[in-house]
Amino acid sequence: MNRKVGVVGAGTMGNGIAQVFAMAGYDVVLNDIDQKFLDKGLAAVKKSLGRLVEKAKLTQDAADAVLARIKPSQDVAALKDCGLVVEAATENLKLKCELFCKLDSLCGPETILATNTSTISVTAIAAATKRPGKVIGMHFMNPVPVMQLVEVVRGLGTLPAVTDEIVALSKELGKTPVVVNDSPGFVSNRVLLPMINEAIFCLETGVADKEAIDTVMKLGMNHPIGPLALADLIGLDVCLAIMNVLHTDLGDSKYRPSPLLKRMVAAGYLGRKTGKGFYEYQKS
Ligand code: CAA
Repeated sequence: MNRKVGVVGAGTMGNGIAQVFAMAGYDVVLNDIDQKFLDKGLAAVKKSLGRLVEKAKLTQDAADAVLARIKPSQDVAALKDCGLVVEAATENLKLKCELFCKLDSLCGPETILATNTSTISVTAIAAATKRPGKVIGMHFMNPVPVMQLVEVVRGLGTLPAVTDEIVALSKELGKTPVVVNDSPGFVSNRVLLPMINEAIFCLETGVADKEAIDTVMKLGMNHPIGPLALADLIGLDVCLAIMNVLHTDLGDSKYRPSPLLKRMVAAGYLGRKTGKGFYEYQKS
């Protein structure tokens, strides 16, 4: 694989993914549809690198070099000669299929097309291309520069050699890859999201207030943050999208999204990214 990587989507996950590749010495093309998303994404990378400089984990020169390796582009054609493209666009099957179809006709036959989807079927996305063997899930966790895991998701047709390459690459990024099969929510969100959804039901039905729910899970289970604070970090829209996929694809009422979660998304209370979710935040 050549050392040029494309990242589609400059949002929370996309800019973090671009950062970890650039920190591992890869040249990165960061693609998004709007210059203001690219500007915001690059500002987030700068801020994250700034934390590392502050803690003397990185020199300012090294941080500048990382930033310089990320080239923003609104033109998807700039991804043409990448050895790997990681898609981190909105969680919408139709949009992802259109994008993968476009990438498939644009990129050379050797290019691996990866998706950072948190729950959409990798096999369904792969079916939109003529290279299903070279399509794979590379599921990073938020915040990407900090979290150790990459959930490597094998679609039905993903070639074993491609899985091996993505496992090796994840290790090169300093991450720990875990290979799982394509199934709704994979392992991470099949287990995590029902817990978060149940915490929202607890809040909605008056079992306890938000601080109490989060404190129980933090102090009682040693979670770094409580489930409601974590929902705010993930994004309530993303949480709802994941619950909807689990509910529809697994067909079990235990995955029904909490009505409060639906109402909060409808109100635009999406968590940290909008400044308000279960808690309030200063907009970055
Ligand atoms: N970039 C670089 N460094 C960052 C960072 C970022 N974006 N965010 C946090 N950090 C660093 C901090 O600088 C700090 O570094 P030191 O240890 O060197 O001091 C460290 O991470 C801890 O940060 P803070 O002290 O600010 O705050 P914290 O102790 O509360 O940790 C956290 C923050 C790491 C996010 C922690 O709260 C945590 O682990 N939360 C749970 C995160 C989680 O579960 N993520 C998975 C979400 S699910 C998902 O992503 C999958 C999906 O599909 C939905």
